[in-house]
Formats: sequence, C-alpha cells, structure tokens
Amino acid sequence: MTSWPNVIAESAKRLEAAGVHSPRNDAELLAAHVSGLTRARLLIADDPTEAQVARLRGLIERRADREPLQHLTGSAAFRYGELAVGPGVFVPRFETELLVDWALEHLPQGGTVIDACSGSGAVAYSIATERPDVRVWAVEIDADAFEWLESNLDGTGAVPVHADAVAAGTLAELDGRVDLVTANPPYVPFEIEVAPEVRFDPSGAVYAAEAGLAVIQPLAVRAASWLKPGGWFAFEHDDTHGKAAPEILSVSGFTEVSDHDDLAGRPRFATGRLGLSP
Ligand SMILES: C[S@@+](CC[C@H](N)C(=O)[O-])C[C@H]1O[C@@H](n2cnc3c(N)ncnc32)[C@H](O)[C@@H]1O
Repeated sequence: MTSWPNVIAESAKRLEAAGVHSPRNDAELLAAHVSGLTRARLLIADDPTEAQVARLRGLIERRADREPLQHLTGSAAFRYGELAVGPGVFVPRFETELLVDWALEHLPQGGTVIDACSGSGAVAYSIATERPDVRVWAVEIDADAFEWLESNLDGTGAVPVHADAVAAGTLAELDGRVDLVTANPPYVPFEIEVAPEVRFDPSGAVYAAEAGLAVIQPLAVRAASWLKPGGWFAFEHDDTHGKAAPEILSVSGFTEVSDHDDLAGRPRFATGRLGLSP
C-alpha cells in the first residue's frame, strides 16, 4: 500500500523525466482530480485505493506523452472561472488574462463587446461574468470549438455566434455600434517551433499564414467596421509581431495605438482606438 504523498512524488519524478515544465504541480493536480480532494487535503488523506493509483498512473503516462493537463482534467482555469476544454478546442493560456485586464479597464458601463475567435470562450466568459452590465457576442468559426463555446457560455448572457469573424456579413447588424472588440486569433507563423502540448490544440486555432498575420489583418478591418468612433480593438499576437501588429492597427484607421508586453517582457497584445469622426 502506498500513500498519496508517495504516489505524488513518484508521479512528479516520472513527469520531470519526460520534460514536463511543472512536474510537481501537475502530479498534485492530477492526484486531486482522481481523488476528488484538494491538494492540501491529499497530504493528510487516507491512502489511495488500488483503482485510484492505477487511474492516476494512466493519467501520468498521458501527461508524460505531453497531453495537456487541462485535457486530462477536462477543465482550464482562466481568471475567476473554469472553462470546459478537450479535443477540438484551444486550451486558454494564462497570458491572455492580461488582454482581459486591459479590456475591462477600457469598457464603458453598459457597453457592447464582440470577442472574435472565441474558442472555448475564455475571454467572452470572463468579460460577461466580471462585467454583467455589458452585452457580449462571441464569434467562432470552427464547428467543434463552437460546441465547447456554446456550453461554456451557457448562463453567462454572452451570445455565441458560429461564423467567420472576418466576413463582412458577420454581426453586420452591430456595425458602428460596438465599444470594444477583443480577439486572441490564430497567429503563430508556420515555421515557429512550439511546445509538444500545442499539437493537441487544433492547428487552425494556433497557426496562420502570411507570417502569422493572415487572420489579424482582415480582422482589424472588420473590427473598424463594428466599432463606433472612439471604440477600442485589442488583440493578442505572436512575440515576433511587436512591430507588425501596431502597424496593422495604424493603417486600418486606429489611433492611440500601443503594444503591450506579457509578464516575461515579450510583445503580446496590441490595442488601438477607432478615430473619432472629424
Ligand atoms: C488561439 S484560439 C483562441 C481561443 C480563445 N479566444 C482563447 O483565448 O483561449 C483561436 C480561435 O479562433 C478561431 N478562428 C480562427 N479563424 C477564425 C475566424 N476567421 N473567425 C472566427 N474564429 C476563428 C479558431 O477556431 C480558434 O478557436
């Protein structure tokens, strides 16, 4: 018979050998998932059953094959919420929380928001639940991702829309009436090497042609049509786009253009304001 601390230590060792970045953290979270206990309770809990140990070892092997932790637990923490995730949808990343911070600061009371390229709905979910005074639309092109989006947004008041965000007809009824457009679009250039976990994200959620700018460029044009004068567009980009992203905003009619770093000091998202009418 083994104890939870022992089985967690053995699991962490296995993950470390497989090159997982946070082996102890992932081992504890998977043990918590299997046991239904918090990480703290695991330290003083009764010993695991054989079935629990076998289940944990199975999950640890999948994690050692670099399947994302969030696919194994079925959920991804994002700001104050938990999004259901799994095959077919992009796992929300921590750095996107910075884009949401910025968006919430620039969102007027009772405002209207479109979150383009919504995936699991991480951005739309956060805005809708943290700011119940605003109205949120969330646009996603991919049918599999859209199913996750619909279920994650259920009960939040945000409206999921299954459509191409860059098509002129999408949410055309909101043209000129939107206060804020957010987007975390696919933006990784094809030639860039990514972490092994990323192969579990749908490739259409990660990569974009034209050096990673194929969705961002037309999206800036579409955002300029949705927004009312003085409205804001904020979008995440690859860290190689620190110059290109603000330039795209400038040539698409945006003013007060800025680029923002992530916590590691890499260029991560760009923002701009649609010029006020003369
Ligand atoms: C990087 S993921 C971001 C998902 C989510 N916003 C997040 O931050 O976790 C990009 C998402 O954009 C979707 N997408 C790609 N092109 C699109 C388009 N033209 N219109 C709408 N969604 C699009 C992909 O299917 C994918 O779900």
